[in-house]
Amino acid sequence: MPNSIIIKKKIKNFNKVISVTGDKSISIRWVLFSSLAQGVSKAKNLLISEDVLAAIKAIRRLGIKVKLKKNNECIVFGKGINGYLYKKNLTIDAQNSGTLGRLILGLLVNSPHKIRLIGDKSLSKRDFKRITDPLKKFGAKFQLTNKRCLPLTIDGSSSLRPIKFSEKLGSAQCKSAVIFAGIRTRGTTIIKAKKSRNHTELLCNYLNLPVTVKKYKNYEIIKVKKVNKINKLNYKIPSDISSSAFFIVLTILSENSKLTIKNVNINLSRVGILSILKMMGAKIKLKNQKIYKGEKNADIKIESTRRIKAINCPVNLNSSAIDEFLVIFLVAAKANGISSFKDLSELNQKESPRLKWGAKILNMMGVKTKLTKSSIKIYGDPNLILKKKIKITNFLKDHRIFMTSVVAALSFGGSWEIHDKDSINSSFPNFLSILKELNK
Ligand code: S3P
Repeated sequence: MPNSIIIKKKIKNFNKVISVTGDKSISIRWVLFSSLAQGVSKAKNLLISEDVLAAIKAIRRLGIKVKLKKNNECIVFGKGINGYLYKKNLTIDAQNSGTLGRLILGLLVNSPHKIRLIGDKSLSKRDFKRITDPLKKFGAKFQLTNKRCLPLTIDGSSSLRPIKFSEKLGSAQCKSAVIFAGIRTRGTTIIKAKKSRNHTELLCNYLNLPVTVKKYKNYEIIKVKKVNKINKLNYKIPSDISSSAFFIVLTILSENSKLTIKNVNINLSRVGILSILKMMGAKIKLKNQKIYKGEKNADIKIESTRRIKAINCPVNLNSSAIDEFLVIFLVAAKANGISSFKDLSELNQKESPRLKWGAKILNMMGVKTKLTKSSIKIYGDPNLILKKKIKITNFLKDHRIFMTSVVAALSFGGSWEIHDKDSINSSFPNFLSILKELNK
């Protein structure tokens, strides 16, 4: 099977109802929390993708039994908060997953033996110092490659100290790693966190753990105390807004289509894309809103948008849209005027430098951009139609670059050869089969 696809035609108009796979952030957190629980936890609609399978492999290596069933059901046989059991010289492979690699370190701060953490080419380029710096203050020791990267070794401590940590990047992974370390530590760990996705805190709240959150205008104060027991956690994972994003944008950019995406997680810390697209004039409605175990979920209804407005994207939406900017840039390419996105240096810290890649894809499409280290201006053209040949090869195999390129090809035309199809396996293995359904 070739690892690339060729697209030479725009997508036909569609009017469909679809479901996308389970949320990646919640799936990985469910695996990790269940590995600490006392008893048997069950998940339905767990995302079965490489990132989540890596999380399952990781807890198996820590001595936790896991049964993966058909229909995306999963059972974890937790042995309690101190139930990890493993031999010396253990290596955990986080593969492509920053969330797994970073969060699991929080749970290993008290490991009795050294553990090596490795990842793939992309993860090995990413910054882990942002995690190991606060975790060192708890008492764990680290050896990093080039002082900031994987492979790294963690050497846990049996006498952890609570810390005060100011999280300034708006990174949910940093915040969550410190929460995980905090629940293993006597005393009160205090985090002053710039706002970011809060699935970890909501799960702590649902599980009745001693984790409190006080919200202020621009930050939150999170207090974490030692946890002695976590109850089993049965959970039906809602669909992923980040995977939905590709279909939301495809619908907006197509000529005359309608789409409903069922039961998507619309946690306020994740729905920046909806606010941004609405500012650009998109017709998006939320139906059947409900709260499930503290998380807000809803069906999302989208229609094609004729006139797209250029925007100055408010920076306070950055963190809640951080994984969606590549596809949002495609909408800006069709806007009537110049759109501007600022304060986005974190986008270059992802699976690949996505701010640079956003500009690169747009430039290949013939769209003018002005790029700095942390901002991009996109010169939109409401009549943008491509006739040229475009080839996308992304040696870091970034799933979101592949899927964004597919949406661009199906929306703007031209003749595209898009490589590294396998990359979708990390977050959204059935992306192409859902597309096929829409294009029938
Ligand atoms: C995630 C947090 C974000 C996001 C990533 C998933 C999480 O990363 O980009 O895809 O599940 O906590 P940062 O914490 O680096 O912002």
